[in-house]
Amino acid sequence: MSLLHYLTALVSTAWRVAVLVFLRILPSTYCKKILPPLWLLYVAAWYLTPVPPRNGKRTVPLVRAPLLHTNAFVVQLSAPLTTLALSLPSPSFALRTANFAINLLLLLGAAEFTFFPFYDAATSVTFTRLGAIYPDAVNIVVRYPIPLHNTTQNEILVSWRQASPTFEGQWQDGPTLHLTSQSDWVDTARLGGLWPSTTYEYRLQNGSHVLPYPAEPIRFKTFPDPRLTTGSHFRFLVSSCTAPNFPYLPFQGRRIKGFDLLAEYLWSTSPVVVPSAPSPTTVLVDSPAAEEISTVTDVAAPKTTLSAQVIPAVAKLTPPAEFMLFLGDFIYADVPLYFGDDQGMYRQFYRRNYQSPSFRKVYERLPIFYTYDDHDIKNNYVGLANDSLPPFQNASNAYRLYNADANYASAHADAHYYDFRYGDVAFFVMDTRRYRSEPSEDPSVRTMLGDKQLAALYDWLGKVNGTTTFKFIVSSVPFTSLWQMDAQVDSWAAYAHEKAALLSVLHTVPNVVVLSGDRHEFAAIEFNGETEREHRVLEVSTSPMSMFWIPLVRTLRMRSEESVVRRMNMTTVGVDGEVISVEEVAEEVPKERVVKYIPEGNYKFSSLEVDTRDLQRPVVHLEVVIHGQVAYKHTIHGEPVQLQTSTALGTFVPQTFKDVLDKLGLSSGRWF
Ligand SMILES: *[C@@H]1O[C@H](CO)[C@@H](O)[C@H](O)[C@H]1NC(C)=O
Ligand SMILES: *[C@@H]1O[C@H](CO)[C@@H](O)[C@H](O)[C@H]1NC(C)=O
Ligand SMILES: *[C@@H]1O[C@H](CO)[C@@H](O)[C@H](O)[C@H]1NC(C)=O
Ligand SMILES: *[C@@H]1O[C@H](CO)[C@@H](O)[C@H](O)[C@H]1NC(C)=O
Ligand SMILES: *[C@@H]1O[C@H](CO)[C@@H](O)[C@H](O)[C@H]1NC(C)=O
Ligand SMILES: *[C@@H]1O[C@H](CO)[C@@H](O)[C@H](O)[C@H]1NC(C)=O
Repeated sequence: MSLLHYLTALVSTAWRVAVLVFLRILPSTYCKKILPPLWLLYVAAWYLTPVPPRNGKRTVPLVRAPLLHTNAFVVQLSAPLTTLALSLPSPSFALRTANFAINLLLLLGAAEFTFFPFYDAATSVTFTRLGAIYPDAVNIVVRYPIPLHNTTQNEILVSWRQASPTFEGQWQDGPTLHLTSQSDWVDTARLGGLWPSTTYEYRLQNGSHVLPYPAEPIRFKTFPDPRLTTGSHFRFLVSSCTAPNFPYLPFQGRRIKGFDLLAEYLWSTSPVVVPSAPSPTTVLVDSPAAEEISTVTDVAAPKTTLSAQVIPAVAKLTPPAEFMLFLGDFIYADVPLYFGDDQGMYRQFYRRNYQSPSFRKVYERLPIFYTYDDHDIKNNYVGLANDSLPPFQNASNAYRLYNADANYASAHADAHYYDFRYGDVAFFVMDTRRYRSEPSEDPSVRTMLGDKQLAALYDWLGKVNGTTTFKFIVSSVPFTSLWQMDAQVDSWAAYAHEKAALLSVLHTVPNVVVLSGDRHEFAAIEFNGETEREHRVLEVSTSPMSMFWIPLVRTLRMRSEESVVRRMNMTTVGVDGEVISVEEVAEEVPKERVVKYIPEGNYKFSSLEVDTRDLQRPVVHLEVVIHGQVAYKHTIHGEPVQLQTSTALGTFVPQTFKDVLDKLGLSSGRWF
C-alpha cells in the first residue's frame, strides 16, 4: 500500500475521533473550524486514493491486540474489523463502502446535533408551570398558542381550588392571562388570596370551557408563614447548565436526560440506593453542641388523635422537594454555534426546553426559580450595566418571558436579582451578569454586582442575620477562586476586591451557604475567617444538570495559597476540674479549602434537606446525585440562632386554628 493509503486512513481516523469528541465529550465552538475542513479533506483523499490491488491473500496486516486478561487470552482482530476500525484502504468494495458509510453517518450525526435547534422551532409547545411560591400566592406561567393565522391574542383563565386528601373545594376563578403573538403566547400571572402551607390545584379555562391541557389539574403547596418560629423541614434542588441531547444520541433531539433522572429520583416508587456510610460533616461554627450529632437521625412522626389517617409511629420522613433553583445556562445560545442576536432564536431555545418531555416531567410538578448565566446571553458575557449592549435586549426578553417573570419580585424595579424565604430560611439570588465590569477594569472600581445590587444584598444580610436560621446566597458563577483557567476571568476570582469585602461581611453572619454552578463539576468549599469568632462559610457548586464535563483535565486547586491564622486558647484542666493553664495556640488554615471535589458526570444535581425544627441544632443534609446515583452525602451543621421575631400572634393564632380545622377534616377553605 502506498503512503496515500495510510494518509487516507489517518484523515479518516482523525475525522472519527473529532466527531465523537464533539458529539459525546465536548460540543466545542471550535467544531465549525475543525469539522468542515476535516470532512472535505477526507472526501478528497477518499476520492483520490486508488483502490489497493488484490496482491496475494492479504493486503491488510493482521493486528495483534495486546493481552486483555492475565490468563493469556489473546484477541486477534479479524482483517475486516481492523479495516473498519482503522479505516484502512481495502480492495474489497464492501469494506470501502462501509468505511465511507461510517464517516457519512458521523457527519449526519454532527449535522443533526448542530442544526436541530435551528429547525426544531417548537412553535406549538403548550405548557404551564409554577414559579415563585409565597405563603399566600403563587406565580403561574402559561404558554398556549393559537394556531389560527389571524389570531393575535388569547385570554386564558386560571381556575383553582383547595385540594387536600380529605377535601376538595369549589373551583374558583383566578387571574386571567393575556397571551399575544408578540409575547410568544407566554404570560405569567399571580394567583393570590391563598393560605400558607396549604395544597391547591389549578387548571386552565377558555371562558367557562376547561382546556384539554393540562389533562390533570396541577397541584402545588404554598410556603409556610415565615413569621412562625417553629422551624422548617423541607428539601430543594439545585443545579445548572442544560442542553438537549448531550451526549448526543441519534433522533433524541428533545431529550434532556438529566431531567429524566431528576424525575426518577424525586418521584419513582423504587427506593433510591443510598450508601450507608455515615455522611461527612461540615460545622459552620466550632461549637461542641454542633459536633455531637454527626448522623442523620430518624424523626418520629407527630402523633395525632384527631386525624383518621393512620400514621406509623416512627417513619423516616424525607420531606417532598418544594422547589428547584436553576442557576443559569438554561440554554446554550452560542454552543456549538451562535445563531446571532435574534429575538426569535433566543425564544426558540426556551421553547425547545419546555417542549422536552424530560423537562415536562419536572416543571409540571416542581416550582422552579431561575437565574441566568453567560450562555443564556453569550459566552463570558459582561453586562457593564448597559442594557443596550448586544445581545442583552433579545436574550433578556426571552429569559424574562419564559423564566424570570415568574421569579420572586426584586427589591428594585426591573432587576433580575431577588430574595425570598421559606419559613425561617432565607435566599438571595444574584444577577452576576448584567452589572459586572470588565475583568480588566481597574481593581478598585471593578464590580460583579453593581452598587444597587450590592446595597440590596448587604441590606438583606442585615435583615436575615438574626431573623433566619440558614442563609443561602445564590451565584451563577463560583464564589471560590480555586477554579483555574477560564474561571479566573469569569468567576468571582476576577472580582477579588468585591469578593473580599463581601466575604468579610459573610463571616459575621452565622450559617451562610453559597450555592453556585457553571463549572460542570461538583465541589464543596469552605471559607475560613480570621478568628474563631468569625463564622465559616460553605459553598456548594453543582453542575451540569445535563451537559458535558471534561475528562482528564482538573481545574480545581485543593486549597488557596492564602491562609489565615486562627488563634485558640487551649485550656488544660486538672483532674478536679481546676484550670491548670491557658495557652494560646495559633494554627494556619487555608482561606479556601476544598471539602469535596467530583468532576465526573454529565448529569448532576444536589438535593438539600433543611431541618431547623430543633433550633439548637439546625442542619442541612446535602445529597449530590450523579447519573441518578447518590454520589456524595454531607451534613452541614449550623449554629444555633436565637431568632428575633416580632411576636406575630395575629398570624400564629389563625394558623393553629386552621390546623385544628384541617385535622377535624373541616377545611378552613369553606369558612373564609
Ligand atoms: C385574515 O385577515 C385577512 C385581512 O384582514 C383576511 O383577508 C383573511 O380572510 C383573514 N383570514 C382568516 C382565515 O380569517
Ligand atoms: C377560546 O375560545 C375562543 C372562542 O370560542 C376561540 O376562538 C379560541 O381559539 C379558544 N382558545 C383556545 C386556546 O382554545
Ligand atoms: C433583536 O432581534 C431582532 C430580530 O429578531 C433584530 O432585528 C434586532 O436587531 C435584535 N437586537 C435588538 C436590540 O433588538
Ligand atoms: C451602551 O452600549 C451601547 C452599544 O454598545 C453604546 O452605544 C452606548 O454608548 C453604551 N452606553 C454607555 C453609557 O456606555
Ligand atoms: C450579624 O449579627 C452579628 C451579631 O449581632 C453582628 O456582629 C454582625 O455584624 C451582623 N452582621 C450583619 C451583616 O449584619
Ligand atoms: C485567649 O485568652 C486571652 C486572655 O484571656 C485573651 O486576651 C485572648 O483574646 C484569648 N484568645 C482567643 C483567640 O480567644
